[in-house]
Amino acid sequence: MGTAIGFAVRKLWVYMSAVLMVCLAILQMSLLKLLSFFSPGLMRKIHLRMGERSTMTQNPKFKYEDWGPTFFSWAFIKAVLGVNWCSLGIEAFEGHAAPDTALFTINGEKTSVHRFLKGNRPLLVKDFSDVADFLIVYLAEAHATDAWAFANNVDISVHKTLEERLSAARTLVKENPLCTVVVDQMSNITASKYGALPERLYVIQSGRVIYQGGVGPWGYKPEEVKKVLEKVK
Ligand SMILES: *[C@@H]1O[C@H](CO)[C@@H](O)[C@H](O)[C@H]1NC(C)=O
Repeated sequence: MGTAIGFAVRKLWVYMSAVLMVCLAILQMSLLKLLSFFSPGLMRKIHLRMGERSTMTQNPKFKYEDWGPTFFSWAFIKAVLGVNWCSLGIEAFEGHAAPDTALFTINGEKTSVHRFLKGNRPLLVKDFSDVADFLIVYLAEAHATDAWAFANNVDISVHKTLEERLSAARTLVKENPLCTVVVDQMSNITASKYGALPERLYVIQSGRVIYQGGVGPWGYKPEEVKKVLEKVK
């Protein structure tokens, strides 16, 4: 469905599912709040289950106390609503043109997504360097210290200026991510048009989205990207 109608249908679906999601989230959170009051033990089990699905439990840098109690806090709710609000701007769909959003290089120079497309080699946000070029777009911080924070995490506040965002991205560069890191605009335009908050994988080839991963952390599946790239090989 690479047509204009296909695109419109997808956009409509984005808005409809957002309304549905918010209603469901309110219901779910009210029920869980009640539960945490009556049965903290069961609540802890639910947190752990969520932690497993989002791979937090497998991350040796964090223990349960660092993130468990933050689920369903006010900061959590605000973060979830903020992410959904931002993603209403999504324009990237499988089989459709990949939005050429403006970005910054790590040194603060202007660039954009399509400038990283070379010929018809696919571009994606991680893995497989013999067949594809890789690009990490650093977006708004998912677990800023002054928002939905985890204990014992890197100390990054919600970026208020481009300089703050660039300097946070340099923290990532220091971890040697093996590919180019670019930075979203302060308007969050790339996060919005790619519906990418808090994290999302894409494969772009010849200016088109050939793979759109699910929204992270649940939908973050590098093994799916691997399958797509194996076909490209
Ligand atoms: C960008 O996203 C962050 C995190 O969701 C948010 O705090 C900030 O207000 C957003 N900026 C704009 C201009 O919407």
